[in-house]
Amino acid sequence: MPAERQPLIAGNWKMHQTLSEARALARNIRGELAPAARAEVALAPPYTALTAVYDEISSSPVRLAAQDAHWQKQGAFTGAISPVMLRDAGCRYVIVGHSERRQHFGETDATVNLKLKAVLDVGLCPILCVGETIEQRQAQVTLEVVTIQLRQGLAEITGLSGENLVIAYEPVWAIGTGLTATPDQAQEVHGVIRRLLAVMQIPAQDIRLLYGGSVTPENSAALLAQPDIDGALVGGASLKADSFLKIIAAAG
Ligand code: 13P
Repeated sequence: MPAERQPLIAGNWKMHQTLSEARALARNIRGELAPAARAEVALAPPYTALTAVYDEISSSPVRLAAQDAHWQKQGAFTGAISPVMLRDAGCRYVIVGHSERRQHFGETDATVNLKLKAVLDVGLCPILCVGETIEQRQAQVTLEVVTIQLRQGLAEITGLSGENLVIAYEPVWAIGTGLTATPDQAQEVHGVIRRLLAVMQIPAQDIRLLYGGSVTPENSAALLAQPDIDGALVGGASLKADSFLKIIAAAG
């Protein structure tokens, strides 16, 4: 990975952590983060804990992230949270298009596109998630699937840069399963994503491409050593300070 792309290690807490648990986890991570850590660190707690986590990390380099956002700034959308509210709560990043949103909540490339535009519009940085299912991998259409997700998700969006876009490749079959993509499998897709971004006239060399899917302290160093893997989006292993800190350390 070129030195100019600072690694990003983001913890996606999903639907875990009460307020007191979230506060304690954020405090432990912030408190034990090595001052010389090369990676930028972001935490994505559930909405209810955003403010509590922000209070713990706001005076540190750790960044706050949200797990989703609506595409409108405000309105009659019961249960939804807007990018304006997330910015107000102290977020820097917003995960968009996570496969669990696509699978359980009807997220499509079209809604992902609307959400990306809305998140960018308020000055936040989306972490756009893409990835294939096991059936798609077995049918050898992984690269086509990821290409469509990126082309449709990023359609009609201009002005993208390393400052306002992060992409996470998360093979669906690797999420929460313990089945990590091998470093070679992940690098192959990351390389294709970077080439596609260049074709799309996006400054590909500046964009951080994260890998996600059963990242652990044991497998993180080999994944992060790949030339086009610029960080990790970590689920289960981000719920314990010690395992998350080991993954941060593996980024250098
Ligand atoms: P796991 O690390 O638990 O497999 O989850 C990955 C993920 O979905 C991060 O967004």
